Amino acid sequence: MTSPRVRKATQLVRLPGAELHRGDCLAVLPTLSPGFDAIVTDPPYSSGGQSKGSRAASTGQKYLNTGGTAFPDFAGDSKDQRSYLHWSALWMALCYDKLKDGGLAIVFTDWRQLPVTSDAFQAAGFTWRGVGVWDKGSSSRPYKGGFRAQTEFFVWGSKGMLAGDTYSPGVFNVQQQRGGKLHQVGKPLPLMDALLKACGPRVLDPFMGSATTGVAAIAQGKHFTGIELTEHYFDVAVERIRSKDA
Ligand SMILES: C[S@@+](CC[C@H](N)C(=O)[O-])C[C@H]1O[C@@H](n2cnc3c(N)ncnc32)[C@H](O)[C@@H]1O
Repeated sequence: MTSPRVRKATQLVRLPGAELHRGDCLAVLPTLSPGFDAIVTDPPYSSGGQSKGSRAASTGQKYLNTGGTAFPDFAGDSKDQRSYLHWSALWMALCYDKLKDGGLAIVFTDWRQLPVTSDAFQAAGFTWRGVGVWDKGSSSRPYKGGFRAQTEFFVWGSKGMLAGDTYSPGVFNVQQQRGGKLHQVGKPLPLMDALLKACGPRVLDPFMGSATTGVAAIAQGKHFTGIELTEHYFDVAVERIRSKDA
């Protein structure tokens, strides 16, 4: 297992409709101009195991059924639950500072981390308004004697009173992506596209990975700011957004 390559120094790439930062979001977020309409993000869950040891395994071993992967591992996924709570409250509070009053916040999580994610969300100052469901469909992993691992969740809420005027569903039925993936645990573009419809014109994703949020935002004419720590995925994000300009 090799550790994901990360560097302390930050880097900024500006493209039409996008501002992409390479670095730790704890360092980059305080440098951003405030006034985002929405935070939409899919942080590392630090999950995928029942014990501390299994959570510390590489992301490829944890999240891919085969235990191996064509994609490099990504950073920041080995915290125990108590430190995950503290860390989440730190980055969420920095996001809260940068969100407009009335802005929308959407944070993905899984069933193990759902309780600490909603705790951190409120500790950071957000008004917690609900939990949305990503239904990944019947091709998800079956569970002998139990229930298929078919869902992931997003905690959502706002900074004060919610300003938006859209009406969105609470459950999104989108099949998991099989081919054409750009990230070990990338979200499907149709899922992010559906969520982005509820968001205003300036969107921030502090854990952009391969920038699926960014591609959806730009396609809807919004401006995207993304942050990514793992060098490989930062480069993928830049190329993915750049190729949209061509
Ligand atoms: C779950 S993935 C996001 C995948 C993304 N939604 C996509 O569709 O490609 C989380 C990403 O956060 C990055 N990350 C982890 N810790 C970070 C940090 N402190 N600051 C910025 N990015 C970080 C990881 O390298 C990983 O690529």
